[in-house]
Amino acid sequence: MSFLKPAARPWRATDFSYSRVASEPFDADLLYILRTTALVESRADQYGDYLRAVFAERGAPWRDAVDQWNREEREHGRALRRLAEAAGGGFAFERVMDAYLDGVAYHDCDGHSVRGSIAGELVARCIVEALASTFYRALRDTCRDETGRQILHTLALDEARHYGMFRALLDAECAQRKLTLRQRLRVGLGRMLELSDDQIMFAAWLVDTPADTHYRRKAIARRYQAALYPRYRYAHLCFAARLICPVLFGRRSAALDRGFAAVLWLGLKLRAALSRGALVLPRRRRRTQWQPG
Ligand SMILES: [Fe+2]
Ligand SMILES: [Fe+2]
Repeated sequence: MSFLKPAARPWRATDFSYSRVASEPFDADLLYILRTTALVESRADQYGDYLRAVFAERGAPWRDAVDQWNREEREHGRALRRLAEAAGGGFAFERVMDAYLDGVAYHDCDGHSVRGSIAGELVARCIVEALASTFYRALRDTCRDETGRQILHTLALDEARHYGMFRALLDAECAQRKLTLRQRLRVGLGRMLELSDDQIMFAAWLVDTPADTHYRRKAIARRYQAALYPRYRYAHLCFAARLICPVLFGRRSAALDRGFAAVLWLGLKLRAALSRGALVLPRRRRRTQWQPG
């Protein structure tokens, strides 16, 4: 039995015609996001090592699934790197990748999940893959380069299959050991809130900022969110909700999906406005307008 469904059209990073990529269709913010993601995806082997250690007790079918997943994630990093390089602007991948690996450690491969259990790990993985597929859909729909769109579409499909794989592993695990609603929500929502942690923000800082300025995670997160969040449409969040809700709540419900999509939409709009500095708290505004003496 295979947990990871094969791709409808298997592909390699070398399949795309990078020579046809033009630089004009890539705005500065899209390039910034692509470069950041190229770094994060290029660390696939570390993610694979960690998961193989966490799932070691579950045997060969689980290891085979992670091995194949690891190979596919490696191709994501390669394709994004080549796309970001082809889109121009001078992307010194090797140098920033070394700095990324030196600057941000991934979880220890000691066989313990940072989510507290194998089931918790799987909930977190489902959330990450669901958000990754949504992310690539949003980028695809705002990319004006044909090859860029093809690559981002291919990645979106892969991430949805990866979600399916972790979901199948989660179902297998929960058939043996029940996961409570509280545990699902704690891990799942917790993982969503980690999106602005160092793993992505340090990469964003490396590809964007002159090396002599200090790394300030919150400022980088605002810059990154301002570049990314306006690319999401409501349909993207409906897609995310359909994948995320069954994992968070342990059951399928169209009403839950709709409600959760609306919450995601509001949260994203609020975050985007805060990132742009468009929302200023009234008390603060009064203070800046009032000049003593
Ligand atoms: Fe990926
Ligand atoms: Fe993935």
